[in-house]
Amino acid sequence: MRCFGFIVVGLVAVLGGLPFSSNAKLEPCFYKKTCPQVHFIVFKVVEKVSRTDPRMPASLVRLFFHDCFVQGCDASILLNNTATIVSEQQALPNNNSIRGLDVVNQIKTELEKACPGVVSCADILTLAAEVSSVLAHGPYLKFPLGRRDSLTANRTLANQNLPAPFFNLTQLKAAFAVQGLDTTDLVALSGAHSFGRVRCLFILDRLYNFSGTGRPDPTLDTTYLKQLRQICPQGGPPNNLVNFDPTTPDTLDKNYYSNLQVKKGLLQSDQELFSTPGADTISIVNKFSSGQIAFFKSFSASMIKMGNIGVLTGKKGEIRKQCNFVNKKSAELDIGSVASESEEGLVSSI
Ligand code: HEM
Ligand SMILES: *[C@@H]1O[C@H](CO)[C@@H](O)[C@H](O)[C@H]1NC(C)=O
Ligand SMILES: *[C@@H]1O[C@H](CO)[C@@H](O)[C@H](O)[C@H]1NC(C)=O
Ligand SMILES: *[C@@H]1O[C@H](CO)[C@@H](O)[C@H](O)[C@H]1NC(C)=O
Ligand SMILES: *[C@@H]1O[C@H](CO)[C@@H](O)[C@H](O)[C@H]1NC(C)=O
Ligand SMILES: *[C@@H]1O[C@H](CO)[C@@H](O)[C@H](O)[C@H]1NC(C)=O
Repeated sequence: MRCFGFIVVGLVAVLGGLPFSSNAKLEPCFYKKTCPQVHFIVFKVVEKVSRTDPRMPASLVRLFFHDCFVQGCDASILLNNTATIVSEQQALPNNNSIRGLDVVNQIKTELEKACPGVVSCADILTLAAEVSSVLAHGPYLKFPLGRRDSLTANRTLANQNLPAPFFNLTQLKAAFAVQGLDTTDLVALSGAHSFGRVRCLFILDRLYNFSGTGRPDPTLDTTYLKQLRQICPQGGPPNNLVNFDPTTPDTLDKNYYSNLQVKKGLLQSDQELFSTPGADTISIVNKFSSGQIAFFKSFSASMIKMGNIGVLTGKKGEIRKQCNFVNKKSAELDIGSVASESEEGLVSSI
């Protein structure tokens, strides 16, 4: 799909020998030789699923975020519970909430057919987010690749690092600062809340009893409040779904910021960016609201910055055979076949 053209081909030739050295860096054409179809294969799977599940691009972008904020972008979120793994999938922000694990496995299956043992699950999450942005009419993200997969997961860290919807601006900034992300990154990445859904349970307090006041959140538009109360009745089903963006629910666009300007942010953490008195985030919201190009440029830069958090490269980690389990676990299950397969995979990847 890309990694063609003279300049890029030249770059690959120069960097070609580096991927297995200990201080290897990520680069966009990492799979140019070992799996040239990788972008197209990921695109095909996500595009097909999205036809019947238009929410999926949003879910995949969120999955990538929830991976990167916990031990870095290392596919730790994909590891299931085993004797040695306490899965992040049951951490509070993920349990009954993350989607797309099956889509990642579908992608992995297709990639293992085309280029066995080559593409990491961490890069699959990255590429799935890249493709999802395009499918949702968002910016074209050119992620560098070459991440490897973790051997561990950490549910405690997932509970600790992932921001909560009731966070105030101070807490949001702190959660992003831990990841090396600044205030502009916070505002730009929050723009991902221009597509996808939220379960009612995360906004019920804003609709009926904000901070124990017995009243709704005063920073919520009153007309919007009435609409939201119809979807999320008091004492009603906590898992009813609300669109983040009432006008273009499946499009990644700057509407998120114009919604904040008219008090139509869905989560408290969204509206905090615009309604915190005197906050430095207000002018950034205004800037992104007034120009889609400015938003897209910042969103792309911040996504790529997020994608670089804590990556494993070179000989660190591994390329998982099955994204939900470390390879050692597969080997325990079927020592003979897996061992010879992984050798073949390694040979064909060089
Ligand atoms: C700033 C702090 C953030 C908080 C507090 C937050 C919180 C949430 C919550 C509570 C949901 C709804 C989950 C559910 O209903 O089960 C959600 C959904 C979502 N979040 Fe965030 N989020 C944040 C930042 C981000 C970032 C940085 C991204 C990506 C760059 C992102 C992408 C999404 C997407 C796309 C959805 C919809 C997913 C779907 O429909 O399946 N969020 N978020
Ligand atoms: C991994 O766990 C998830 C639930 O978190 C489940 O849906 C999935 O089927 C499991 N995958 C495998 C391969 O066991
Ligand atoms: C995750 O959700 C399931 C189903 O609702 C629940 O039974 C389980 O206790 C939750 N796990 C954790 C760790 O909260
Ligand atoms: C998981 O993260 C917690 C919180 O940062 C840390 O104390 C703990 O050592 C980590 N556990 C593992 C197994 O890495
Ligand atoms: C944000 O919440 C924290 C923790 O509850 C609190 O200490 C802090 O004062 C709050 N900040 C603002 C600006 O409200
Ligand atoms: C609102 O929440 C507070 C504190 O959680 C509680 O004491 C109060 O009864 C609630 N009010 C209503 C009207 O539900």
